[in-house]
Amino acid sequence: MKILSIVGARPQFIKCAALSCAVRKEHNEILVHTGQHYDSEMSDIFFKELQIPEPDYNLGIGSGSHGEQTGKMLIEIEKTLLYEKPNLVIVYGDTNSTLAGALAASKLHIKVAHVEAGLRSFDRNMPEEINRILTDHASDLLFCPTETAVLNLKKEGITTGMYNVGDIMLDTLEYNIRIAEKKTTILDDLCLNSNEYMVATVHRVSNTDKIENLCSIVNAFCDAGETIVFPVHPRTEKYLKQYELWNKLSTKVKVVPPLGYLEMLKLMMHARKILTDSGGVQKEAYMLGVPCITLRENTEWVETIEDGWNVLVGADYGKIMHSIESFEGSKSVGKIFGDGNTAEKIFEILKSVEVD
Ligand code: UD1
Ligand code: UDP
Repeated sequence: MKILSIVGARPQFIKCAALSCAVRKEHNEILVHTGQHYDSEMSDIFFKELQIPEPDYNLGIGSGSHGEQTGKMLIEIEKTLLYEKPNLVIVYGDTNSTLAGALAASKLHIKVAHVEAGLRSFDRNMPEEINRILTDHASDLLFCPTETAVLNLKKEGITTGMYNVGDIMLDTLEYNIRIAEKKTTILDDLCLNSNEYMVATVHRVSNTDKIENLCSIVNAFCDAGETIVFPVHPRTEKYLKQYELWNKLSTKVKVVPPLGYLEMLKLMMHARKILTDSGGVQKEAYMLGVPCITLRENTEWVETIEDGWNVLVGADYGKIMHSIESFEGSKSVGKIFGDGNTAEKIFEILKSVEVD
């Protein structure tokens, strides 16, 4: 088959690293980068570290409002699809790049495979929730990471094409864990001792775009009396500076630029706790057996909560402080995300796809 895979944002590079490698064993893969993320520490570093093939196309879309960004992607992806005429398009996750890819392909009657299908937060204020729902309903193959995701699709009336294949991020994590341990010096670089610090990431619209929420999170991090390392997403840096919170945060918290995957993995592996609003980081905390304090009111990764490794605190100062002090996580890590062989499972399923 000729398969065209579409990526554009940081978590998608990490997801495609494992699948690209498997797909290329038997198929011709064309890799398209929409250019949604473009800073070298948000994009290039992942291609280098994870040995992802150089994209065949970089559409250079960049930042913008949702309509502008998604619209420009649709136009450019459609041109690429008309030129390349793939048998199948693969999209990942829940970003604007995901939705634009699924929409452009389905309108041209090209089969769409969605990796990380069926996730729901049931919060339509999240741009990601709209992207997930629309992408799933435009897709032919729905590669779900969990059984909950399969059930979510069934409840929406989707009856065919879904497979619980486990979570592709576990493949990438397992492949890289020893490499990260061996190759990176981030703990020494930041003068950290294993298990004596916490890691934080924040980038969700609900936290960055509301001054009271970002203020509350910054105040909790500053007052916690803990060593907190905070790799700052560019969206968050913009708002921290706009709300004049940057200087306060930097005096109490180890603020660092966005990290490469290997440094981030090493940092998380040795952390005592993780504070985050990221989807990917919540999962990785679970996979690594590190207690996760989630700075959101809801999560798509409900199994991490049910298993006792994750707690929802929103942007509530009191709840964040309480969890930093007392949330300890569970005893053992289960297999909710599968066995780390998701890429192989998807590869096998792709063998049965009938092409025109
Ligand atoms: C996007 C996804 C989100 C995902 C996140 C992963 C959507 C709607 N959101 O959010 O689901 O969790 O990526 O990180 O698709 N910027 C830079 N340099 C970059 C990229 C972004 O400075 O390389 C800044 C720009 O000011 C931009 C802002 O970050 O306006 C937001 O970027 P955008 O890609 O629109 O959304 P994210 O918040 O990154
Ligand atoms: N990540 C990274 N460097 C960072 C922050 C996150 O490599 O400074 C990785 C993280 O380990 C995970 C992925 O990026 O694999 C998550 O992406 P992000 O939080 O941007 O998006 P989300 O998963 O919320 O969509």
